[in-house]
Amino acid sequence: MDRRKFMGTLPILSLLGDKMMETISFDKEVDWIKVKSLFPKSDVLNLNSGSAGVMPNLVEQSLIDVLTELNRRPVYKVWGGWKEQVLEIKRGLLEYINADNHSIALSRNATESLKQVIYQSRIEAGKSILIADWDYPNVCHDCKYRCEKENRPIQILSENLSTLEDTELVKVYENAITERTGLVVLTHITHREGRIMPVKQIIKIAKEKGCLVLLDGAQSYGHIHISLSDLNPDFFATSFHKWFNSPLGCGGLFVKNDKRSSLQHPYFPESEDAFEQFENIGTSAYYQWLGLAASLVFNNNHLHSKQKQKRLRFLSDYLRNKLGDDVLFSVPDTGQYAGISSFTFRSSNTKEGLLVNSLYNDFKINTKLVKRKDASYIRVSTNVFLEESDIDKFVDTLGIIK
Ligand SMILES: Cc1ncc(COP(=O)(O)O)c(C=O)c1O
Repeated sequence: MDRRKFMGTLPILSLLGDKMMETISFDKEVDWIKVKSLFPKSDVLNLNSGSAGVMPNLVEQSLIDVLTELNRRPVYKVWGGWKEQVLEIKRGLLEYINADNHSIALSRNATESLKQVIYQSRIEAGKSILIADWDYPNVCHDCKYRCEKENRPIQILSENLSTLEDTELVKVYENAITERTGLVVLTHITHREGRIMPVKQIIKIAKEKGCLVLLDGAQSYGHIHISLSDLNPDFFATSFHKWFNSPLGCGGLFVKNDKRSSLQHPYFPESEDAFEQFENIGTSAYYQWLGLAASLVFNNNHLHSKQKQKRLRFLSDYLRNKLGDDVLFSVPDTGQYAGISSFTFRSSNTKEGLLVNSLYNDFKINTKLVKRKDASYIRVSTNVFLEESDIDKFVDTLGIIK
């Protein structure tokens, strides 16, 4: 699919005024230094896009413009006037991941979208929800809570993710999923390890056994190349503010068209628009969603998802080489990962938490501490606004303080 098809849709471009950017050809090598120059300069080195990304100048400015317009006019009239643009934005978001068989409801983040499915999906009485201890903690909590309230079984997978090959992992799910499983919850890219999971095979198995499948794509949209029609989950929940360069507070719930009736209790049942039913949360920071128009233009113009994934993997591999043999990664070099790497030192006496704090407090380098059972890791997210010299700075600093 031509990702730039979206560019021909004028209502969105009208939101961006004259701030259009040059379009690159996807056949050419991307000029990554130029891409970096499209982001604001900062005295903080942000190696934590896994929590929240950075908006490029275009997105930041378009958000300010929209907010300014909103603040000078009657809010609901302006919002009503933006209906067409929001529909265009939704079309663009669907196209970006080739979601031909899905519709999208916008939300504030992945958490909100995940909750909608976890709490509102119609699961036959007595059937279980299947999760794994590498899923996001809030997701695990919500699934446990629902199961407890409805007196339904919960299945929790617990394995050493770092040592399992993809085929073994698929087998673990295959053995766990039965006809008594109602909802299978999967994570596309795990938040601690950054592992890209073999979800296509698992989804196929789950659906053959008649389960509903919720795919948590909080870390995957805008990070790796995705074809949702190929993966085929019933529900896909994501945040656009991590890897898609969008304003904070933008997320989405993608629902397979033939599974809309599997969601009950929408927020706003009176609405005739099936998806507005899941979007209407009362007066809120609607204008954030308009910022998605600029994110779409940015990603469609400069960053084809395959090139982006390749670049993020390249930067992660650069980091791995630079760190050398003294570190242990939670996904092996031969494994599936892109822009997230988590590691611990084999020989340092300094605790990972202290290193993460010192990196930020003393050197303005933002990373994240992640924990699994009794192990702690330093999580580093690479992104398109970084270059090799940024990774050098991080590794050199770590060498001084460890
Ligand atoms: C796998 C996963 N799911 C869900 C979330 C929640 O995302 P948000 O805070 O944007 O709602 C995160 C956040 O890091 C995550 O990594």
